[in-house]
Amino acid sequence: MDHFGYRNGEMYAEEVPLREIADAVGTPFYCYSSATLERHYQVFTEAFAKQGLDLLLCYAVKANTNQAVIGTLAARGSGADVVSEGELRRALKAGVPAEKIVYSGVAKTAREMAFALESGIYQFNVESVPELHQLSQVASEMGQEAAIAFRINPDVDAKTHAKISTGKSENKFGVPWVHARDIYAEAARLPGIRVVGLDVHIGSQLTQLEPFREAFERVAGLIEQLRADGHEISRLDLGGGLGIPYDPTDPEPPSPDAYAAMVKEVVGHLGCRIIIEPGRLLVGNAGILVSRVIYVKEGEERKFLIIDAAMNDLVRPSMYDAYHEIVPVLETDEMPEPCDVVGPVCETGDTFARARPIPPLGSGDLLAIRSAGAYGAVMSSTYNTRLLVPEVLVKDGKFAVIRPRQSYEQLIGLDQLPDWLAQ
Ligand code: LLP
Repeated sequence: MDHFGYRNGEMYAEEVPLREIADAVGTPFYCYSSATLERHYQVFTEAFAKQGLDLLLCYAVKANTNQAVIGTLAARGSGADVVSEGELRRALKAGVPAEKIVYSGVAKTAREMAFALESGIYQFNVESVPELHQLSQVASEMGQEAAIAFRINPDVDAKTHAKISTGKSENKFGVPWVHARDIYAEAARLPGIRVVGLDVHIGSQLTQLEPFREAFERVAGLIEQLRADGHEISRLDLGGGLGIPYDPTDPEPPSPDAYAAMVKEVVGHLGCRIIIEPGRLLVGNAGILVSRVIYVKEGEERKFLIIDAAMNDLVRPSMYDAYHEIVPVLETDEMPEPCDVVGPVCETGDTFARARPIPPLGSGDLLAIRSAGAYGAVMSSTYNTRLLVPEVLVKDGKFAVIRPRQSYEQLIGLDQLPDWLAQ
């Protein structure tokens, strides 16, 4: 469910015609809907409230780190899941209270740990024994105690794309669940460490509940053992990962209601405070990438729609073979024709869709690449010396530029010439 739809023959973001935004900021640009962000937050939190679960929702800000997006969710009560000092700084700046921030990631440095401790975050999700020792040292030196959960690797196949699967034993994430009891025992002996919970995150864009269930059953059993060993486990962080619909012809992924009911069934009896770290589910369908056709090129075998957005703006199709729906901004009832939608970057991989049926479009026409709110702008680059594109947020019939288009001065000005080349 989102707030991008046709009205009077053209596509709107909430109450605002996309054409109007394109005229104001140029193309390409990302456009986000506040109403969709807010609705997704509400649907997810209500699903858990219906089950009577004590929930802290920590938005995985990596999915979209624009402060306006984080701030929209924070205003509703969202916490944040961060994976770097940069993300932590942004979340704090966007108004997320430190006591609602969890810190994940396999490679937190001593400096990052110190900054997080100074900030007073809620919890560190620790992913290895060396990291545990480092945190113990940093916290002790600061005269503090770090609240920690271990991220357990449950060795479960998430049945998603290999590049975004994280819960198999061959993946770099978490501590092996078979060693968990020893590792918790070690943590209990260390100064500066307060064990409070357990964390698990098995991957992203999961479209079935079964892998979650398998992982959660595993950690539920483990929590009972750990409690019997004398550890206080009062928080259970279940990570993110619930998938969203990208391709309208695919079956719908499980609903937040079904997910929350499964959580209640599998781990409800433990009485833990549940933390979840959804990213994509909150922001994915709350954003689109709007682009303009530059040329239509008739190749020998196929028709190419060459647009002004490229893989550097949205890398998901080239990186994960991801499907994104592509629709014209002006509604038409002309018959779709198969075409390849490609960008200007000098790589064959700079392709958004192959042989995709799309109504005929001409040079200058606008189109929207849907479901681009998560892992879109945040993964963009300036490859081919292309400027970072603007981001726009719509709310209550108006829009605001929340990241302006980069200028050539800003981009090229980043380089510094050594004195032997400087003029
Ligand atoms: N928590 C942790 C520890 C994570 O590593 C992630 C995502 C999340 C939560 C949020 O997962 P989500 O609810 O968004 O699925 N760039 C890829 C996705 C990478 C996901 C990385 N970790 C893509 O575009 O599909």
